[in-house]
Formats: sequence, structure tokens, C-alpha cells
Amino acid sequence: MAGTNPKTRLQGRLDDDEARRIGAVVVNEGRATAVLDVAGMAEAERSGFEERVRSALLAEDDIADVRIASTAQRTARTIIAIGSGKGGVGKSTLTANLAVALARQGVKIGLVDADIYGPSQPVIFGVQGTKPTTRDEKLVPVETPFGVPLLSMGQLVAPGKALAWRGPMAGGALTQLMDAAWGETEVLLVDLPPGTGDVQLTMLQKFKPAGAVLVSTPQDLALIDAARAGQLFDAGGVPVIGLVENMAGYACPHCGEVSDPFGAGGVEAAAERLELPFLGRIPLDLAIRQGSDGGKPPAAGDDAVAAPFADIAKTLREWLSARR
Ligand SMILES: Nc1ncnc2c1ncn2[C@@H]1O[C@H](COP(=O)(O)OP(=O)(O)OP(=O)(O)O)[C@@H](O)[C@H]1O
Ligand SMILES: [Mg+2]
Repeated sequence: MAGTNPKTRLQGRLDDDEARRIGAVVVNEGRATAVLDVAGMAEAERSGFEERVRSALLAEDDIADVRIASTAQRTARTIIAIGSGKGGVGKSTLTANLAVALARQGVKIGLVDADIYGPSQPVIFGVQGTKPTTRDEKLVPVETPFGVPLLSMGQLVAPGKALAWRGPMAGGALTQLMDAAWGETEVLLVDLPPGTGDVQLTMLQKFKPAGAVLVSTPQDLALIDAARAGQLFDAGGVPVIGLVENMAGYACPHCGEVSDPFGAGGVEAAAERLELPFLGRIPLDLAIRQGSDGGKPPAAGDDAVAAPFADIAKTLREWLSARR
């Protein structure tokens, strides 16, 4: 394998999915050692894969012997939950636009819409009609036009059908979405249902997030609820990354006058009281609702409405790299 890097050469002889599973290839005095990630592969598939790697390596002039180390360890994926105590404060809007902004900033992002009772991500991303396929009994996330692969309960069951689900059913549904074929995804954002129910508990017990972002409007009641949701994460050992204020200050599209239907600055003050970082403020803007309803997350554009999402994404990246 003179010339190019042995890993690149080997990857060139495999299909994309298998190429992604090559961790490292080291060649030393005619002996190649290949480290493969076989997470989620069935036994037959795994031995076929190992055989293809072996013969591809042996086809190289300078390799006489091949050792294979297969690890079923998953790629370390960071799960970040977006929560709120109260419904309707903008969790789904924030999750979608944060995911789009992170993708634009080069993060390999994925999105799980864990709001099994009222999924909204397929509409926000304009992929309502698309059903995920399965591979090796795992769901394959649906690609969206914004670089954010997505899985949502809304893609699996008829609207309203999950409403009566409790405990094991809800937990099982979440498991299917989380344990999907997420491939190279580095960061998985999870849009939680409001409150502190079964999905949140399964999330904490089975797929403990690295951190949680809490959303609130400036209203006092929403703030108290956000604090309560924060306590659940705290109790489960999940650090709260910070608070986001949504629907702060309304710019009238006709006269430009800014008014504060829900007050403003309340979330920042609350973050200070709770000794939590304040991550940013998103204004109440008609373009945000229209974009969300029309399958075009505003963070994908270049006008002013995209800016606060890009800023919060940047802060989140700083949090992620400080953590590593
Ligand atoms: N900053 C904003 N400006 C204008 N409209 C917004 C803004 N944030 C959210 N909305 C709109 O408010 C509604 C509720 O937002 P969203 O669905 O994101 O909230 P949620 O917390 O996920 O709600 P639920 O608890 O029902 O899941 C949506 O119609 C959304 O488009
Ligand atoms: Mg929602």
C-alpha cells in the first residue's frame, strides 16, 4: 500500500456504509491491523464485512497478513435534550432551527422528535410525506433539505394514535427513534414533549443526555415550569446547559414598533437566579411561525431572523468542545 494512506485505500474498495465503519488501518512489516466498528450488525453481515476487508487488504502488494479487531462500541454520540416545563413555548421551533444552524456550522447533527404525543418536526422540515425505511431492523433517519437527518414518531403512526400511550409503549417508541441507524451523527438533538412524563423518564434512564437546554417564554408561569423541568434533569444527573428565552419582544411588521407581549428579559434574570447560563433570546417574529409552518426553518436563510439561532448554536458548540 505504498503512496496513499492504507485506510483511505481500503475505504475506496468498500461501499459507503462499510467504509464509514473502518476505524483505523495500521500496516507494519507486511501485517495489516484493521479496526472495524460493527455496532448494530447481524452476525452474518458482520462476518461478510470482515471477509471483504480481509480480501481487500490482501489484494495490496505490501500486505501478507491481516488481523481484524471488530468493536461493537458505538461512536460516541452526544445527546442533547431540548425541554420545557410548559407546552407551546417553542421547544420544537428551537430544536429545528438549532439543528439547522449547527449543520451550517459543520456539526454532523441529527434530530429526534421525541414528542410522541404531538410530533411537529416533519412539518417544520417539510417532510410529512416521507416514511423512514429500515435496515437490519433499525430505522434509517429521513434526510431533509437542510442537512439535518430526522426521525419523528409522526413518521411512524397516524396523527393522534400515540395519544393514549403510557409507560412501556412510549418508552419503546423512543427507543426505536434513538437506537436507529444514526451512522456518523455526532450530536443528536432531542425535541422532548412538554412536562415530566414517561418519555422524559426513559430518556434519563436509557439514553442519558449529555446536557439539556431549557426553553421558556418571559412569562412567570412558563419560567416556574422551566425551573421544574430543570429539577428533573438535575435529579437525573443531566447538566442544564442553559436557558433560552423565546417569543421576546414583538416587532410589528407594519409600523416596526417593538412591543413585549410576554414581557422581556425575564428569562435572563431567572437564569441568573437559578445560577444557569443564559444562552440567548429569540424574538416573536411572524417569519419564524411562517417558516415553521411552511417547511422552511428560518435558520436556513440569511436574514436577521436566522441570527439568534446561529448565535445559540455557536454557544452550544463552545459548550461541546469545553466538555471534550
Ligand atoms: N419566536 C417565535 N416567533 C413566532 N412564532 C413562534 C416563535 N416560536 C414558536 N413560534 C410558534 O409558536 C407555536 C408553538 O411553538 P412550538 O411548536 O415550537 O412549541 P413547543 O414548545 O414545541 O410546543 P409543544 O409543547 O406543543 O410541543 C408554533 O406555531 C410556532 O411556529
Ligand atoms: Mg413541540
